Amino acid sequence: MRLLQFVAALGLVGTAFSQSSTVKSYVASESPIAKAGLLANIGPSGSKSSGASSGVVVASPSTSNPNYLYMWIRDTSLVFKTIIDQVTLGQDTSLRSQIDNYIHAQAIIQQVSNPSGTVSTGGLGEPKFYINETAFEGSWGRPQRDGPALRATAMITFANWLLDNNNATFVTNTLWPIIKLDLDYVSANWNQTTFDLWEEIQSSSFFTTAVQHRSLREGSALATRIGQTSVVSGYDTQASNVLCFLQSYWNPTSGYITANTGGGRSGKDSNTVLASIHTWDIAAGCDAATFQPCSDKALSNLKVYVDSFRGIYPISSGIDASAAVAVGRYPEDVYYNGNPWYLATLGVAEQLYDALLTWDSVGSLDVTDVSLPFFKQFSSGVTTGTYASSSSTYSTLTAAIRAYAEGFVAIAAKYTPSGGGLSEQFDKSTGVPVSAVDLTWSYASALTAFGARAGTKTASWGAKGVTVPSQCTGNAGPSVSVTFNVQATTQVGESIYLAGSVDALQNWSTEYALLLSAGETYPTWTLTVTLPASTSLQYKYLRKANGTVTWQSDPDFSLTTPASGTFTQNDTWR
Ligand code: NOJ
Ligand code: NOJ
Repeated sequence: MRLLQFVAALGLVGTAFSQSSTVKSYVASESPIAKAGLLANIGPSGSKSSGASSGVVVASPSTSNPNYLYMWIRDTSLVFKTIIDQVTLGQDTSLRSQIDNYIHAQAIIQQVSNPSGTVSTGGLGEPKFYINETAFEGSWGRPQRDGPALRATAMITFANWLLDNNNATFVTNTLWPIIKLDLDYVSANWNQTTFDLWEEIQSSSFFTTAVQHRSLREGSALATRIGQTSVVSGYDTQASNVLCFLQSYWNPTSGYITANTGGGRSGKDSNTVLASIHTWDIAAGCDAATFQPCSDKALSNLKVYVDSFRGIYPISSGIDASAAVAVGRYPEDVYYNGNPWYLATLGVAEQLYDALLTWDSVGSLDVTDVSLPFFKQFSSGVTTGTYASSSSTYSTLTAAIRAYAEGFVAIAAKYTPSGGGLSEQFDKSTGVPVSAVDLTWSYASALTAFGARAGTKTASWGAKGVTVPSQCTGNAGPSVSVTFNVQATTQVGESIYLAGSVDALQNWSTEYALLLSAGETYPTWTLTVTLPASTSLQYKYLRKANGTVTWQSDPDFSLTTPASGTFTQNDTWR
């Protein structure tokens, strides 16, 4: 028995050793490729960014299946946060001129009127633009309200560094006006529904709320620093409200963060891991209110999220239940048949590296009831408690967690083709790259994961010591369930939809109007919707057939929802 255990242990050490040498050589070879790949996609002179204006990030040079030749605010902001970190941490100061181009480009983009509105009427929520800085007018999941927050975070990081280096004039005159537009948007709109970062469901989204919280906190601190005090109390108030709302995504029964409140999915989603790594602040330790990477909630969530991918991808068959596996956006994903993504798989590694760095800086590690299942993966006998960094439990757990993190990088390594190019996804059955080639965000995710692996600590943003208000205000209040029944005779191929004056009724959008169903109840079409309680609203039915939209005749119907419970509204098409 003893001997067997010894042999088994040797085997494990052997596996860990060969894995770590694979990862080491992958990181060494992939780092320069990822950086060059990222820079190739930035205008005006990136080798794969032909046609892109100066400072514009092309999401991917792929022009068909899928066409990603656009500038997404989210991708661009995350890519430039990576560049800004490299410059401000002194890792590569040669990238400075790229940042100047980026700032110039974003100042232009903010002012471009687009289907979400003008700069002052919601246009900042527009998710993507043509690479020559003009508006994309086609139908899309809009608005996406993470963009302004992520852009503000990138710029605030740069602004703080400039202030540290005595360049207050540029911050006040050039950066602050851009940052303020974004923060005012976040402050005014954080409690509105949004398309999620995957551009698919309109609801509340954890990633969006988390990055909004961060932007308002650090925005208020920056405003104080440069004497723009008039905005401070407003941003602080909203930051607390957002933090309060952020708590509502936590699902205590199942131990994970429900990434989206809509969409008919489990809510287990890479959204939550990305939120944790992009709001990491080592000064906040393992604070759970901000879902820090080493917080018990974020670790429990990580396990549930990763486990949701066990057994769903053929390339992972036979992988041990406690070993790293390839992960994608969310287990129910069907985009390109639903595959693992590089940025999701590397994101798991990054959260674990961030956690390891934080534990080392705190000098201990806590195992709580919430995080116990996570830690048991690495030591089945571990019990709740605080383990000082000098303890053997700390050494055992952190060594195993580091090996686990390396396992996710090893998966990315295994499915990176020989030239080192990173697409968006790799095929769940064959492992070959699929969807957009040279995805800029994939390269950025490799650089930030490798950075955390090497010990890079990004600048703090003020997560330390934030407190969650005892009662939330400002977010979606009580709601009621309302069933709409409408009698409407229709032709074959024709359907009945509903739209109205509130978010839940798609703000009169014909494109996103809600589809009713008929079936056995025909000619009565029906739909049940969650609406804000005690609210007066207007609505109408519309019919769509072969792309033709016909509204029912005026006037609008109106309705005041009850204070609680359910409600049925019976109407007849007119
Ligand atoms: C394009 C979006 O970018 C992607 O995230 C989504 O999955 C597909 N459209 C399908 O809706
Ligand atoms: C699809 C992803 O779902 C979305 O998050 C991303 O912004 C675009 N592709 C562009 O990369």
